[in-house]
Amino acid sequence: MEHREFYDKNYGEILDHAPDREPERQYYFLDQLKEIIEKKKREGGYQATFHIETYGCQMNAKDSEKLCGILRQAGFTEVDTEQADLVLYNTCTVRENANLKVYGHLGYVHSLKKKNPGMLVALCGCMMQEPEVVAKIKKDYRFVDVVFGTHNIFKLAELLYDRLMSGHMEVDIWEGTTEIVEDLPAERKYPFKSGVNIMFGCNNFCSYCIVPYVRGRERSREPEEIIREVEQLAADGVVEIMLLGQNVNSYGKTLEHPISFAELLRRVEKVDGIERIRFMTSHPKDLSDELIQVMKDSKKICRHLHLPVQSGSTEILTKMNRRYTKEQYLELVRKIKEAMPDISLTTDIIVGFPGETEADFNDTMDVVRQVRYDSAFTFIYSKRTGTPAAKMEPVPEDVVKDRFDRLLKLVQEISGEVCGRDVHTVQKVLVEEKNSHLEGYVTGRLGNNTLVHFPGGSDLIGKIVDVYLEESKGFYYMGRQEG
Ligand code: 5AD
Ligand code: SF4
Repeated sequence: MEHREFYDKNYGEILDHAPDREPERQYYFLDQLKEIIEKKKREGGYQATFHIETYGCQMNAKDSEKLCGILRQAGFTEVDTEQADLVLYNTCTVRENANLKVYGHLGYVHSLKKKNPGMLVALCGCMMQEPEVVAKIKKDYRFVDVVFGTHNIFKLAELLYDRLMSGHMEVDIWEGTTEIVEDLPAERKYPFKSGVNIMFGCNNFCSYCIVPYVRGRERSREPEEIIREVEQLAADGVVEIMLLGQNVNSYGKTLEHPISFAELLRRVEKVDGIERIRFMTSHPKDLSDELIQVMKDSKKICRHLHLPVQSGSTEILTKMNRRYTKEQYLELVRKIKEAMPDISLTTDIIVGFPGETEADFNDTMDVVRQVRYDSAFTFIYSKRTGTPAAKMEPVPEDVVKDRFDRLLKLVQEISGEVCGRDVHTVQKVLVEEKNSHLEGYVTGRLGNNTLVHFPGGSDLIGKIVDVYLEESKGFYYMGRQEG
């Protein structure tokens, strides 16, 4: 076998030379991998194409950009279907159906691999941090080549290299880490906007949620590193950034020199070239008055807050370990709206948490009516093994389904009314792409995240322009450019 030969000739030497320090070690393996890929290409017939399927949240999307950067650097070219030489699934496990989707795709990719035995299949992300999942992959999905988790995505080059050298499945899962490895090549999906990780992991242990188990303990990046990255992005032409963390409001508390999230925002605001600042996700229990003030005073921070309520019932919130009451949440919303009447609020809601009664559910409906969210992501409670809620008494499925339908209807009614509130005004729009349905139109977003379609050419992409909002279509606007 070709790789075996390479292994015999070179591996001893490589072990001698691979630096221990990161990210130097990964640059070393990137070079090694690149050499193998180039050789395979030269020998003919090998295209070195790759495809990444990403599930789940913004954190995973950001991780996929990093994975993409590493693969390109190694000599791979991206394609948009799974008919590729390397297919990577960046998985999510927050709800069970996210897992099921991955198994479905694995069945399909197995059929592709039978036709193209040289194909590499890799799995990473949150689902791989669950030992039962990894056991199942090892047993029933032997054709998978590389399995890694959420803590070591920066190691992709080394893992692929090891796989090519060893000829068998490489599994590398870390239980946790305090290490944050940055400064590896990363790809950006859009040239004009980018996510920036400010922290990793979560310490909240909401009783339904698997994230703290699969993403590990909360770790904040040093503010100086974040600012350096934002400055670099601005120099590259990025105008909008999204600061990412599971719970951004507790940013910086565990750093050697603690700093608040509000203070970080003040510093990010000073970076020239950055026009819009967004952030995700806020936990209501940690949202400070200081943050509200910084948002209010800011010209750059978008008037949008994603503030997951999860449930409107204080009793259920207690069982969820959310550490706020219905009244505290509503009071927080009141303060935010008082400071910024034009704020757009969005939320996450779980229906059918164990023990949820009709009265509890009505409290959730009541919060939705009072807050009037621009939009709400509604989820049916999904039991996650290993979380405290998994041991609690479930609500019957038909009851949950009925509540879910009622909630969705209310949420949609309200957002239809709320979203159109800026109609007949001129607003700033960051143009993101050509409209895929209407010839000669482009699509962009308002600061509050609402979509706007208007006539224009692709030269506008990445620019912030004034747009008159002619008509509200409920969840989006039709407009025309001003001036
Ligand atoms: N079941 C249903 N929804 C969940 N979420 C997290 N865990 C679960 C679960 N076990 C939802 C929460 C969270 C969002 C990202 O996913 O609403 O805010
Ligand atoms: Fe999960 Fe709660 Fe952490 Fe969000 S704050 S990631 S819901 S444990």
